[in-house]
Order: sequence, then structure tokens, then C-alpha cells
Amino acid sequence: MGAEMILKGQVLSFERSPFDAGRPEDACRIAEAVALRDGQVAAVGPLAELRAQMPQAEVADHGARLILAGFVDAHVHYPQTAIIASWGKRLIDWLNSYTFPEEERFGDRAYADEIAARYLDLTTAHGTTTVCSYCTIHPESVDAFFSAAQARGQRVVAGKTCMDRNAPPGLRDTAQSAHDDSAALIARWHRVDRLEYAITPRFSPTSTPEQLEALGALWAEHPSCLMQTHLSEQTDEIEWVQELFPQARDYLDTYEEFGLLGARGLYGHAIHLTERERHRLREYGAALVHCPTSNTFIGSGLFDMAGLMAEGQRIGLATDTGGGSSFSMLRTMAAAYEVGQLRGTPLHAAQLLWLATQGSATALRMQDKIGNIAPGMEADLVVLDLASTPAIAQRSARAEDLWEAVFPTIMMGDDRAIAEVWIGGRRVQERR
Ligand code: GUN
Ligand code: ZN
Repeated sequence: MGAEMILKGQVLSFERSPFDAGRPEDACRIAEAVALRDGQVAAVGPLAELRAQMPQAEVADHGARLILAGFVDAHVHYPQTAIIASWGKRLIDWLNSYTFPEEERFGDRAYADEIAARYLDLTTAHGTTTVCSYCTIHPESVDAFFSAAQARGQRVVAGKTCMDRNAPPGLRDTAQSAHDDSAALIARWHRVDRLEYAITPRFSPTSTPEQLEALGALWAEHPSCLMQTHLSEQTDEIEWVQELFPQARDYLDTYEEFGLLGARGLYGHAIHLTERERHRLREYGAALVHCPTSNTFIGSGLFDMAGLMAEGQRIGLATDTGGGSSFSMLRTMAAAYEVGQLRGTPLHAAQLLWLATQGSATALRMQDKIGNIAPGMEADLVVLDLASTPAIAQRSARAEDLWEAVFPTIMMGDDRAIAEVWIGGRRVQERR
């Protein structure tokens, strides 16, 4: 029998989406304890019951701490770790000034290894247990990332970024090499241990129609892969797409035409959508990924969370490191709350926590494995200290219920709020 462990605290599970409940908190259940066995959640319930079921298990008492599924970050660029928080540009200038020069360095496997390790150290310290990452055009950058995640036992998604135009020469592949290199990486990594591959055309402006077509064909050959790209992030980007693809009905059509719209597709940002695009995304059950710190930092716009949720879209939440200005899903939830306020639709703490866990897991089509605490789910957990700084502690001390107690941590918390992190049933981070 594998290692057994019981964590006692306030254990948060979702019975359904808090966006579908009359009162968001009614979608949630708070239990006294969670039992882990062999890397999975074995049971959730009263401590006495779990003790009776697993008399050998060690019990860790976390008092009033909140125990929830590890955070799932549905859209990141690990190669942008070292250029996070670069000043003053908007999307296309930001890519050319900061991003592309940094991404050129990832042909060097040693550098890619260094940044992959640094990135996973930082995200783990912030309570994130799964990410879906872009790499660079270099296959080495994908090998580096998957190797690092595999060694840590982490469930991650990643893919080689494909670009065959409008990028510096050192960052361009071709339609054929993008297809063949991606195919070789799928063969090497897809569904090995906890790893999954995402076919990754960066966005329409940096791919020729030939490359989009080749990647659409690759996806048809490997339908169990996810596909990730960017969609309608900034208005000048959308105008540029119209110039580059004069036949296209809209931005989404540049993907749709080449077989790059599907249920396992992830569309980052998706801010300035037309009615047709919204309709098609919903029809396919594709996932939209909200990147609120990025959208304010690069000045992109305000994602329509309430409207898109109301029409039944599948939506995940993400940092978009390093266009996003943080590695923290707490900070990202705070930004999502602020964007909601600017649109007149504040999100409830239960909705924010759901987006950062089960919502993103649903976007990644991994909702049966991660993003919630329930028997049979993989034991990726985070233990949140709801009084991690004096400022937060004095506010949460006034709270009359759990939602009021956790909200100051969502709004003001950072890695100091992450008391423990568990990945695959192993404690990988502990703050004393
Ligand atoms: N659009 C195309 N590439 C990128 C990127 O790296 N970051 C963001 N935020 N948007 C993009
Ligand atoms: Zn991005």
C-alpha cells in the first residue's frame, strides 16, 4: 500500500459550477478532512470517518486553513519568465521588443532547462500545480519543459510554438518543419506520465495559411491533443489579421478554415469577439481563456466573463506569464474580480476559486483528474493560510463566513499565503 495521509482543515470541493448555482456558494461543499492514498484523493468527509477508514494514516491538522485543489493556469509562456513586467508597450511592440529577443535564447538547451526549472519553482511556490504552456519554436524548449515537469511528477500541457512569418529569422520554422517537429514531440511526450501535448500555432499573424493548414492536418491526425492559440486580444491585432487574411469572415475564421477550431481548442484572451465567433466557439465547445492581468498590463481590454458564461461558453483562467504581470493565480483571481467590477459584474469568491481550479481544468479537458477534491481525483492540493500577512489577518478576523474570510487572501494574497503544496500525493512545498 502506498503512503496514506489525512489533511484536516476547511476542505473545499465543488459539486457543480458556481456560475450555474442560484447562489454561487451553494455549488460548494466544505468538509473537515481529506484523505490521500497512492497519489489520489481517497475520501473527503468528517475526520473521525476518515480515521476509521485509514487507521494507519498520519493526520496533519491545518486548523482554519483552506484546503483546495491546486491552481490550474490554463495559458502561460514559460519562456517569458525572465521578461515578466517589461514596461510600456502594447501587444505587437511588446512581442518585438521584449518577447522575441528572449525566446531566441531557447535554442540553447541549457538555458531552456534553467528557465523551465525556475518557472516551475516559482509557480509551485504560488500554489499552481498544473500549467498549459507555450514553449518557443525550438523543440529543445519543449524537451526542457516536459523533462522538468516529468521529474516533478506534475501534470502539464505544453507545445512547440509555430511561426513561419512576421517573426525574426531565428524564430521562424516552416509549414513542413512545424508539422514534422510537432509530430515528433507528440510521439515523444504526449500522454507520457502526466504530460499532454498541445499543438501550438502562436497566432494567425505569425503563421502563413500553409502553416495553419499543416497544423490543422496534424490535429486531425492526433485528435487527443489539445490545440492552443491566441484570439482577438487587441484591436490593432484584429485589423492586422484582416489585412493578412482578406478572405476571412473574422479572426476565428482564420483558424476555423484550416481545421483549428475544435472542442479541444484553447483560445487565449478572446476579448473582442463578434457574434459569429461567439456562436461558433460555443457550438464547438471550445475553451476561452481569460488572462486578466495580461489584458490590463498590455492594455488589451475587458473580457466579458458574465456574458460569455451566461451563453454557456467553456472558460478557463490564466496568468499569461509574461504578458501577464504575475505568477500568482491569487493575483489573477483579483484581476478577474476587478475586470468584472469594471464591467458591472463582480464575481463571487466561489466563482473565482472555481475558475482557478475546476474551470481551468475543464478548459484543459482534465476536469475528471484535477481541479477539484473528490475521491479518485489526483492529489494535487494547495493549503491556503487565510491570515498570511497582518493586513490580510486583520480583515479575515472580521469575517462572518468562509467566503468573507477567503476574499482578502484572493485580493491581497501572494506566495506567502501558500502554506503547503501537494503534487501527486507528495508534499512539495511547505511554509513554516
Ligand atoms: N499573441 C501572440 N503571442 C503572444 C504572447 O506571447 N503573449 C500575448 N499576451 N499575446 C500574444
Ligand atoms: Zn499568450
